Amino acid sequence: MKKVAILTSGGDAPGMNACVRACVRYAIYNGFEVYGVERGYVGLLEEGGIKELNSRSVADIIHRGGTVLKTARCVEFKDPEVVKKAAQNLKNMGIENLIVIGGDGSFRGAKDLSDLGGINVVGIPGTIDNDLAYTDFTLGFDTAVNTVISAINNLRDTMTSHDRVFLLEVMGRNCGDIAVYASIAGGAEHCLVPEVPFKIEDVAQSIINAQKRGKMSNMIICAEGVVNKDEICDKIKQLTGIGVKMTTLGHVQRGGSPTVTDRVLAAKMAVKAVDVIKEGKTNRVVGIKNNIINDMGITEALSMPRTFNKELYEIAHILAL
Ligand code: ADP
Ligand code: F6P
Repeated sequence: MKKVAILTSGGDAPGMNACVRACVRYAIYNGFEVYGVERGYVGLLEEGGIKELNSRSVADIIHRGGTVLKTARCVEFKDPEVVKKAAQNLKNMGIENLIVIGGDGSFRGAKDLSDLGGINVVGIPGTIDNDLAYTDFTLGFDTAVNTVISAINNLRDTMTSHDRVFLLEVMGRNCGDIAVYASIAGGAEHCLVPEVPFKIEDVAQSIINAQKRGKMSNMIICAEGVVNKDEICDKIKQLTGIGVKMTTLGHVQRGGSPTVTDRVLAAKMAVKAVDVIKEGKTNRVVGIKNNIINDMGITEALSMPRTFNKELYEIAHILAL
């Protein structure tokens, strides 16, 4: 019987469990024997890290954030000899196919497993950051933005009661997508992202202008990739005379029950990944472009330059006037 293993790697993201469940059940439906690898690439190297799964193994996880397979950052995996050993461990168990749910780092590990170890790999994008160029959305992004919106709603209550200025730092590594989507959906006045240079003087001036128009409270959403947030707050205070309350949302954004959007995306991508393996293709990633689930070569996907949606970023500011 053909065998497929599944692992989650890098930062966990809501929807990974829904995706693992869908991969397991759709692969079994298609006649595969299915295995789960614990703690990302670490599980390929450790005794007992690869376990057979059945449909019941993934019961009652569709609604849970995090990943029941656990995840890890396995630094040694950049060593080709370690990759070859991991591939051999899979082959020793007769496993020739591997589905990797993770971000670009995890996909580089998957590519190495295919190139150096001859394993048939398929990547599914799982990261809250939405920082993979080849796909419009990654699993976990929608849930993370919804978590940010819930935080903005709470902050607004106290912000407007006191007529204050708030700066909310959101995650995203070097990508400003969480900040942009949260700014539009949360009605923020300013959105600061690493992709677009800005002047603090302009932000300060627009706070002053807003006050003149009777808008006394201001929400600044700032992506984590923007450096020197303390300095930004200090400078705004210096230029406007108004103190800025800073909140860092942090890992709260990584957890929580996945949204419907993430659960359905997880199911669609899992089905595509198993279909890709069934067709005998290897070294692939699945994604979603213009609402169509597709697959492409890992090498091509990883070499695509990421484009930032400047239009959405500008809309966020226009609607805040
Ligand atoms: P993400 O997959 O979310 O981008 P990381 O960048 O932390 O997260 O990568 C996850 C794991 O993928 C790493 O801990 C490592 O095991 C593996 N990995 C990352 N980069 C490489 C690389 N260049 N070559 C081989 N494996 C890598
Ligand atoms: O990649 C997901 C992410 O949450 C990023 O947004 C953030 O920069 C990073 O992981 C945090 O990593 P860690 O959980 O190791 O602190």
